[in-house]
Amino acid sequence: MNGFETIIYEKNDGIACITLNRPRALNAVNIKMRDELYEILPAIKDDPEVMVAIIKGAGERAFSAGADISEFGTTPSPAVARQVRWERDLWGMFLSVPKPVIAAIHGFALGAGIEMAMCCDIRLASEDAQLGLPEVNLGMIPTAGGSQTMPRLVLLGRASEIILTGDRIGAEEALRIGLVNRVVPRPQLLPTAEELARRIMSLDQNAVRYAKEAITSGLDMPLEQGLELERRLAARLWRGHLPA
Ligand code: COA
Repeated sequence: MNGFETIIYEKNDGIACITLNRPRALNAVNIKMRDELYEILPAIKDDPEVMVAIIKGAGERAFSAGADISEFGTTPSPAVARQVRWERDLWGMFLSVPKPVIAAIHGFALGAGIEMAMCCDIRLASEDAQLGLPEVNLGMIPTAGGSQTMPRLVLLGRASEIILTGDRIGAEEALRIGLVNRVVPRPQLLPTAEELARRIMSLDQNAVRYAKEAITSGLDMPLEQGLELERRLAARLWRGHLPA
């Protein structure tokens, strides 16, 4: 799949790589990028050759500096309403991919940038990463799921502080609070993501997908229902292993 304006899509040996590609605007997420992500994520989902996806930012300075503020209208306006609507879809879009998605974060990961990464299964960061949800500084609140995903990933008090102050945190702090899984030197970021992708690819892919479903679908269920989901998925997986 080629011909995108704002993303680069590559596929190599079972790994799909999406590069957010507006480096002059620090990979800010504009409507076009949202549309192109909307197009590519279902394609990843349906492509049997793809086992794991990696998402990263182009250029030296950012994973993504968030929603494209040049597309913001003057509040209140239909443009803002549209902005809110499309950002809300990101979470569902990423959740609908049954395969593991790894975010490789360098430089700025702000607003919709970090929100997109929080919709991924695993977040790796380079030492230069700066993460934050600056929406309150703009008189807004996060609208790509951040107010919900951040408290699910890190301790509530810390999540609240990040959201309510709009302050940016560095990679080491992000690691300390569990917002990212690992911090590596910048040159190691993509190789580390690829190595992790390959390790996951070496496993039983049905087990990997069912495990992802158990985690993502079970997260918002009461424990009893989540355990029942786990039992059903385990049984389905077990049946799949039985000889025909
Ligand atoms: N939307 C659109 N363009 C953006 C952008 C965004 N969210 N973030 C950065 N850019 C553009 C800048 O306008 C600038 O473009 P220009 O060179 O044509 O003027 C370019 O990216 C580089 O950014 P600049 O601000 O010059 O770099 P900096 O090092 O001084 O600051 C940031 C970097 C990330 C701190 C700063 O760009 C910033 O605060 N961006 C907005 C972040 C934000 O609020 N995102 C959430 C929106 S809800």
